[in-house]
Parts: sequence; C-alpha cells; structure tokens
Amino acid sequence: MSSAPSKTPTAAAQSSLHQKDQAWSGRFSEPVSELVQRYTASVQFDQRLAEVDIQGSLAHAAMLQRAGLLSDQDLADIQRGMETILSEIRAGQFQWSVALEDVHLNIERRLTELVGDAGKRLHTARSRNDQVATDIRLWLRGEIDLILDLLRNLRLALIGQAEANADVLMPGFTHLQVAQPISFGHHMLAYEAMFGRDAERLIDARRRVNRLPLGAAALAGTSYPIDRAFVAEQLGFEGICENSLDAVSDRDFAIEFTAAASVLMMHISRLSEELILWMTSRYGFIRLPDRFCTGSSIMPQKKNPDVPELARGKTGRVYGHLMGLLTLMKGQPLAYNKDNQEDKEPLFDAVDTVRDTLRVFGEMVAGMEPQPEAMRRAALEGYATATDLADHLVKKGLPFRDAHEAVALAVRAAVDAGVGLEDLPLSQLQSFSPLVGEDVFEVLQLEGSVASRNHPGGTAPTQVRQAAARARARLGG
Ligand code: ARG
Repeated sequence: MSSAPSKTPTAAAQSSLHQKDQAWSGRFSEPVSELVQRYTASVQFDQRLAEVDIQGSLAHAAMLQRAGLLSDQDLADIQRGMETILSEIRAGQFQWSVALEDVHLNIERRLTELVGDAGKRLHTARSRNDQVATDIRLWLRGEIDLILDLLRNLRLALIGQAEANADVLMPGFTHLQVAQPISFGHHMLAYEAMFGRDAERLIDARRRVNRLPLGAAALAGTSYPIDRAFVAEQLGFEGICENSLDAVSDRDFAIEFTAAASVLMMHISRLSEELILWMTSRYGFIRLPDRFCTGSSIMPQKKNPDVPELARGKTGRVYGHLMGLLTLMKGQPLAYNKDNQEDKEPLFDAVDTVRDTLRVFGEMVAGMEPQPEAMRRAALEGYATATDLADHLVKKGLPFRDAHEAVALAVRAAVDAGVGLEDLPLSQLQSFSPLVGEDVFEVLQLEGSVASRNHPGGTAPTQVRQAAARARARLGG
C-alpha cells in the first residue's frame, strides 16, 4: 500500500490544472509540458471542422440510441447540448482551449459541461481516429461542391465570351509566334474544355471522399453492435470505408483532391499568363476593368494585372501542398499516426486558394473586354494565312511539300517588300506557282481562313457558336 498518495498518478494528475483538462490524463504521472501541449495541439486550425464534427456526432449518437447503447434521454440531452454549442461557435462565443488539444475534445468537454453524463457517453464505440477522418471527409465534400459551383460560373463566363466574340479574329500562336488566324471565341472555349475536365476530376474524386470511416474506432473496429450503414445514410455518404485499418489511416482522398486542384490551378496559371501578355501594350488584345487591376506607387501610368499574376503565383502553393501531403503519407505504417494531423493545414489552404481564385476569375473573365482591332492587326502582321495559300495550291493538285516550298518563297518576297501576302499582285503570286488562281485572295483574308476550318473542333465562327451552345447545354444553361 502506498503511503505517499501525492505521488500516485491520480493525485499528480489532479494537482495540475492543465492535466485535469485532458481526456486521457489517468495513465500519466506528470502533466504534459506547455511546450508539448502547444506543439501537439491542432485546435488552432481544426476548429474549422466544428460544424461537421457536430454533424458527425449527432449521427453517431442517433445510431447509439437505436442500438440501445444510449437512452432516449441521453440522445435528447446530446442534441440539446450540441445545439447550444453550435450557436456558441457561430456567435464566436465558444471558448477554445489549447489544453484540450483539438476540436473533438473541446466540443466533447463543453457538451459534458452542458448536459453531464450523456456527454461522456457520446464517445462510446468511437475514437478520435475515425472521428477526425469522418470530419475531414464531410468538410471536403461540402467544399468540393462549392468549388464545382464556382467552376461552373467560370465556365459560363468563358462560354459567354465565346458567344459574344465568335467573329473576333486573332492570331493563334505556336512557339508564341503567329501561326494561323483563329476566333477569339475558340480560344476561350479551349479553356472551357480544360476546366470541364477539372470538374470531371473533382466529381470523380468526390465519390472516394464520400465514404464513412466511423465504426473503425481506433483501428480494429468495435465490440458494440453498431450500424455503420445507418450512420452513412444519415450523413449522406455513398458507402462505408470497408477496412477499419484503412478507414482511419487513408488520406488518399485529400491527396486526390489536391492533385485535381493542382491541375486546375495549372490551367488557371496558363490563362493568367495569357491575360498578362494580352494586357501589355505590345499585345493590347484585352482590357481588364479597373476593379481587377492595381496601380504602381511610383509609376503613375501603370495599370498592373495583379490578379492573374497572383493566381499564377498561388499555383505554386497548391502544388506545394500536394507534395506535402504525398510526403506526409509515404512513410506511415498502419494505422493512425499523429502525422496525420498535418493533413489539415495544406488541405485547408489548397481549398481556400482554389475557392478564392475561382471566385475572382469568374468575375474577371466575365468582365474582360477583348480589343478586336489590336488582335486583327497582330494577325495581319504575322503571315498567318500562309498555310491557307499552301492549302489553296494543294487543292489545285500540287503535293503539299511543294506547295509549302512555293509559299515559303512567296512569304520571303512579301517580307522583303514589307507587305502582306494579300498585297502581292496576282502575277507575282503566280510566279511562285502557276496553280495560284484568281480566287486566292479569299483564302488570304483572315475571315476566309477561319471560315474554311469548318468542322467540329475547328475555329470557323459557325463551329465556335455551335461548340459554345453545346458547352452551355452541358452546364444546363
Ligand atoms: N487532432 C487529431 C488529428 O487531427 C485527432 C485524432 C487524434 N487521435 C489520436 N489518437 N491522438 O489527427
């Protein structure tokens, strides 16, 4: 029998204020140092999961009651307590405590303060390991839905620009050199196609996000007669995570989301790069409304495309989170490890970055003002219809390689003369090939060139209008 009660674990634990706060203090003989407490706590950032944590707890409690593991009165107490907690959190009045480590223990402690023993019964047949995995999935599912809405808005803005500007002609580029004339609307729909694939990727990843870990408990399942299908249904999950070890340790879903987010941001960054180029005075292809630009504190003439530049920069940050999450998982043995707590900040930041970026891009693209004159001038300067001249000769029977050579000589002559191909007299054009016909001037016009690319996927304005209509129909208006 111990004669020094103050040295028993319980007494030591009770001597510390902080230690008393902890849910697992019984096993320990001295309090966790404040430094370690701060180092291991996640409540500073995971309080963001509070609402889904409560949602998950309510579904779990309802299941416990149905299984006879919780009385009707306990369930009613838990529901009442959670309602109070929810309004405290929403009003910003909830007292978060670092000593209570994370969002789960903070809410559970407050619940017990409010309703007593029922609060202590809530954690039956559950662990924070399956609880946190459930929370992140619920939260991410909601964020994916928001992001899909914003992505839809951006796609509608691109489609709107395509419809309004199907007949606006610009140079298309390869190697950033003028290549062939295209419709500005066609260019807009190229981005719509990219963002359409991004939406598909997110919808696909969502299916794997939308599975229930609860029931896995700490790692091996639980000895209580639980009903996982009921909880899954309550929470709108498409099914349960089959294997309990996998359920608590899998973060593939977060990695997949961040991978899809990275590809999406890569597309945003490509679009940004073009907007930035197009806004320079050398291009002058577009104007962005002032509300999306900023000035310089020293150069009064400047109007800077800060929004696309920042989006291009933020792309790197999302890629970084993908690398962070992959690296977080690569060395982890089964099942749950505390490492997993590090999944949240990168995931939260990836979501915030994508959400904010899509929101501003939806508005900015809708407000973008194309400058047809500048685009036309640039297309005319670059011999953009040289391929059309070659095609003209091929249609008259010349092999393509020979036509290519003849046109190269014609372009050189036009460059030497400082004029466009369409400015050379017919007789001079015929000196490069007698097959050049009087109808050549039509194909040398920008309009003739684009109109001739008249097949699905081509840049003819009539095709662009049809493609825009199909894209709009796919989005349901
Ligand atoms: N805050 C923890 C996390 O984010 C919750 C799970 C803690 N589980 C544990 N066994 N320590 O991962």
